[in-house]
Amino acid sequence: MKKIVFVCLGNICRSPMAEFVMKNLTDQVIVESRATSAWEHGNPIHRGTQQIFKQYQIPYDSHKTSQKMNLETAEECDYIIGMDSQNVADLKKMLPSRLHTKIYPFAEESVPDPWYTGDFEETYRMVTEGCLAWKNRLV
Ligand code: 4NP
Repeated sequence: MKKIVFVCLGNICRSPMAEFVMKNLTDQVIVESRATSAWEHGNPIHRGTQQIFKQYQIPYDSHKTSQKMNLETAEECDYIIGMDSQNVADLKKMLPSRLHTKIYPFAEESVPDPWYTGDFEETYRMVTEGCLAWKNRLV
């Protein structure tokens, strides 16, 4: 089975949203999420993202906490997917060049960071659309 990891800056808003939306769409892919930074390390999923999961009845792990992307996870995954163009650029800086062929943007358009915009609905719309496209690509 293919293994993918969604990556954003904090791993509390966008990438966990993509992780659990994707898990809800398919069980034919192993899905994880990580951060490019350690800023939120150990912190739970943002309440705005948890609110979206509840509103749209998406099962999720309320005990999941932020973890920074590392080499081991990068080696294990087939696709390393940055939620915005800065995440993709940061992943290329963090990871050895032999792994760069696994790094992809989540969608053509970067997913805006609701940490700054406050608009978790906009994030959810873009995450859902992007996850459907990834599902069609992988399953
Ligand atoms: P995320 O959002 O990358 O979608 O998880 C953020 C979460 C935290 C911070 C920035 C973005 N922060 O600055 O701590």
